[in-house]
Amino acid sequence: MTTSIDPTTTSAWSALSAHHKSLTPNLREWFAADPERAQKLSFTAAALHVDLSKNLLTDDVRDALVELAEQVDVPGRRDAMYAGEHINITENRAVLHTALRRPESDTLEVDGQNVVADVHATLAKVYAFAEEVRSGVWRGVTGKPISTVVNIGIGGSDLGPVMVYEALAPYRQPGLECSFISNIDPTAVAEKVPGLDPETTLFIVASKTFGTLETLTNARVAREWLLSSLREAGALEGKEASEAVAKHFVAVSTALDKVAAFGIDPENAFGFWDWVGGRYSVDSAIGTSLAIVFGPKVFADFLAGFHAMDEHFRTAPLAQNVPVLLGLLNIWNVNFLGAETHAVLPYDQHLHRFAAYLQQLTMESNGKRVRWDGTPVTSATGEIFWGEPGTNGQHAFYQLIHQGTQLIPADFIAMANPAHPVRDGEQDVHELFLSNFLAQTAALAFGKTEAEVRAEGTPEEIVPARVFPGNRPTTSILGPELSPAVVGQLIALYEHITFVQGIVWGIDSFDQWGVELGKKLALQIAPAVSGDAEALAAQDASTQALIKAYRELRH
Ligand code: F6P
Repeated sequence: MTTSIDPTTTSAWSALSAHHKSLTPNLREWFAADPERAQKLSFTAAALHVDLSKNLLTDDVRDALVELAEQVDVPGRRDAMYAGEHINITENRAVLHTALRRPESDTLEVDGQNVVADVHATLAKVYAFAEEVRSGVWRGVTGKPISTVVNIGIGGSDLGPVMVYEALAPYRQPGLECSFISNIDPTAVAEKVPGLDPETTLFIVASKTFGTLETLTNARVAREWLLSSLREAGALEGKEASEAVAKHFVAVSTALDKVAAFGIDPENAFGFWDWVGGRYSVDSAIGTSLAIVFGPKVFADFLAGFHAMDEHFRTAPLAQNVPVLLGLLNIWNVNFLGAETHAVLPYDQHLHRFAAYLQQLTMESNGKRVRWDGTPVTSATGEIFWGEPGTNGQHAFYQLIHQGTQLIPADFIAMANPAHPVRDGEQDVHELFLSNFLAQTAALAFGKTEAEVRAEGTPEEIVPARVFPGNRPTTSILGPELSPAVVGQLIALYEHITFVQGIVWGIDSFDQWGVELGKKLALQIAPAVSGDAEALAAQDASTQALIKAYRELRH
């Protein structure tokens, strides 16, 4: 096992501590003193223009951060990831989501297998199936074409598909829609399923392990609903139930044996591999619902977008490497400036599920207290990611970002071209929207002084409440338009930022042991909730009291 380098023992970390001690952030002065600042701190990664200049970065800090990346060997770990080394130490697995988007002409031998060939063989199967559904060749058991695809999955088997389904809404094929069932809260399945037409609905059971309680429970409930509603409609006469399941259920999983045990024909299953983490899997067969509703061409463009960002991350020098710089910036914000959260604020309504998606990507990856060699971490890790699309957020929580007591670094994301060009008289509404995107980062960076407030003639006694301190760090990410490729680039950008932070902290960003305990306990507690006295007696006092209260309240 490669020992993880403790970042706090490096000379770069000491330099950063010293810079932090002498730092007096003043973005107004920094911009005034260096007319080149915006240009020096703006970078291009694939089609994205990324401006870091409104962060609390000086040249010295940036240089020391890049030095830190060298000293903890970010380049070496990155290359090891791309090469398929088992960098997921605690699960002894390769980490190869980058292989999911490599061109077919590439070759990558991992553990004796050309994984790029495997990826493209699966893609070909997914694309062929997607075309069959889209063209109406694939029909339900009563002979009708499919109009609704329901993805049943949770975590990485849900959040990515949901987010991208929304992000690329304009690319959906008319007459085809997706619905997503994830939660084991029976409300999800009870409210979504009855509105569906069993004859034209296709369920995709998406689960890497095919052992997840929520997904398998929801899949069984959906199968039961399908069969009973087809029976009630007399649509199953002379037909076996298995025939209906075969026409209305497909699966995506790494565990094809369990798929078969569930009753889904392995012919109708799309595989992937243990080297794809759940939260890194939207670009694998987990995206089958997306390939159906958007079509293979759009899905291929989406993958090409990921690959363009992968190539930037793999080849750009560290000092110009956007995922590296943004990962390092997060280290600076968390470990030196004390930030505990990080806001992601897309000025694009189609990205309204982006923050939810990023929460799993970032927090399941880096919410760790032990390093990959088993030693405790030596600094804070894993900031909390959150966010909502602008400008809704402006009218809700931005107050705290502008004038609260916490430092909240924020990523502002916008596209130059809107999905819908709309005018309000002479006014291009998208330009009004972008003016907000620009105004917010300027207000956060430069604030408003007491003198400026007074100059407006504001009554003296309420002046302090009107002062904006400024020096609130933001990064602006501007893309050309929310195309399939740009969505792929954005996802890959955050995947690699997360990776860089994990390497600096020395943690395994690809395991998720922290979700296991609760899953096991839920299975142990379930009999107690259902009235098993022995199981109840085995619970702690608080859990017992809560179960008793529940049983009294339950009708
Ligand atoms: O919540 C933990 C987790 O293991 C995630 O990492 C994963 O994305 C999710 O559960 C779903 O797992 P599966 O795809 O195996 O059903």
